[in-house]
Amino acid sequence: MAFTIAIDGPAAAGKGTISRAVADHFGFAHLDTGLLYRAVGRKMLDGIAPIEAAENLVAEDLQDDSLRTPEVAQAASKVAVIPEVRAALVDFQRAFGRRSGGAVLDGRDIGTVICPEAEAKLFVTASAEVRADRRFRELIGNGLDVRFDDVLADVRERDARDMNRADAPLKPAADAVTIDTSKLDIEAAISAAISAIEAKRGIS
Ligand code: CDP
Repeated sequence: MAFTIAIDGPAAAGKGTISRAVADHFGFAHLDTGLLYRAVGRKMLDGIAPIEAAENLVAEDLQDDSLRTPEVAQAASKVAVIPEVRAALVDFQRAFGRRSGGAVLDGRDIGTVICPEAEAKLFVTASAEVRADRRFRELIGNGLDVRFDDVLADVRERDARDMNRADAPLKPAADAVTIDTSKLDIEAAISAAISAIEAKRGIS
């Protein structure tokens, strides 16, 4: 049985942690679609044309240790504006969404463009300061030498680019349940997500 859960939201909103926990809870497969754009961004930084990189992406490209750095995040949001890059990544994401056994995809355009028929859609958000604070701690925890102000600027800049692009801009699907995690700890955010999905499972 296919059951698709779409989880979208702005940078560092906690989509990754929530998506992994939701996938574990329901026994579904999980795809972090941001990694696809980060892998294309990484290749652009290495001098490869973004469209060519997107059309030839392979599984090993998603293993690169540098994909979580702010530099690659910025490059990802730049290549994500290019319609041909987005188009090259659509089929893989859609096929993943319809795999039997259930799937959780997190990103920016899953509920709106990639899987508009998803049975459950969440839009996970939080204030820019809270998101930047979480990302700052995560990057420091990973041993990166970053300043809070730079992380906040990165989050704001990417949000603006993601929301204002013409192709598949970041926005909640009309039928998405919004979860604002600004005042929720991770356990509460995961519970809220699971409850919202359970409600949809009951009626699907
Ligand atoms: O982890 P974080 O929320 O900071 O970013 P990400 O989900 O890894 O996404 C990195 C960048 O890829 C975003 O800023 C978007 O520009 C782009 N992206 C996208 O356009 N569409 C998606 N479905 C996922 C990511």
